[in-house]
Amino acid sequence: MRYVIFNRKGGVGKSTIAVNLAAVAAGRGERTLLVDLDPQANATQYLLGRDAAAITPTIGTLFDEMLSFRLLGNAPSSTPERFAHPTPVNGLDLMVGDGGLMDLHDKLSSRHKIYKLRDTLAALDGYDTVVLDTPPALNFFTTSALIAADTCLIPFDCDDFSRRALYQLMGTVREMRDDHNPRLDVGGVIINFFQERARLPQQLVEELRAEGLPVLEPFLTQSVKVRESHQVHQPLVQMAPRHKLAERFVALYGAIQEACDLEAAS
Ligand SMILES: Nc1ncnc2c1ncn2[C@@H]1O[C@H](COP(=O)(O)OP(=O)(O)OP(=O)(O)O)[C@@H](O)[C@H]1O
Ligand SMILES: [Mg+2]
Repeated sequence: MRYVIFNRKGGVGKSTIAVNLAAVAAGRGERTLLVDLDPQANATQYLLGRDAAAITPTIGTLFDEMLSFRLLGNAPSSTPERFAHPTPVNGLDLMVGDGGLMDLHDKLSSRHKIYKLRDTLAALDGYDTVVLDTPPALNFFTTSALIAADTCLIPFDCDDFSRRALYQLMGTVREMRDDHNPRLDVGGVIINFFQERARLPQQLVEELRAEGLPVLEPFLTQSVKVRESHQVHQPLVQMAPRHKLAERFVALYGAIQEACDLEAAS
């Protein structure tokens, strides 16, 4: 299964969620690949810290080669394994993020390379689960990820402005499915920064449900442990597996799989 974590809004928890769900999948024995499509490379930093700088080839190299090679035999998709690097998390590989992606953006977009990531991942053998982390924009990299994925997961930060933007996001996913990727489903909305004792987040989530949005449970609560885990470059689920939020990540991954199974059966 290929999951894309998507929300145009910045700071809603995309990279945190991508890394922790990928670590949960790997912990369950699924061979897992995390693909960092954000020039900020926060998911890569989270997993590798400073060690990331020494790792090549990066995802930037992959896209650069897409521009250079035209013949299928030489295309990066013929040897995609080169771009997947092991991480300190057992069973989790990473396509390493690259600040140079932004410089490639316009060229890739003007030469219509939006299907190339899908083709590259399709040529990659042996992964049970792929998680795609995307930048806070609807650009070439996000579009490529939505085309390459089977399931879209939308983090929501319990903010009223974000609630309104959710409908636009659902529309974007629908359009992407109709025009480019018939396999793409919305796996659900992931509630992040949830404060159990505050009234507003509860009310916002109730409104989403009442409006028919597929809200996933459990909700991810706000915790300083997340920042601590960023600092030590270890997914929270690995750094503090008994922490309540880590347990919620594990339960959430189970719920996502159930939602996908239901969708497949319908
Ligand atoms: N549940 C949480 N509790 C506390 N802090 C959180 C939680 N989730 C994310 N954060 C913090 O919020 C900030 C934004 O998270 P993150 O980088 O994962 O979001 P993002 O959507 O990937 O951002 P961007 O759009 O810039 O890529 C980070 O500092 C992260 O540590
Ligand atoms: Mg991010």
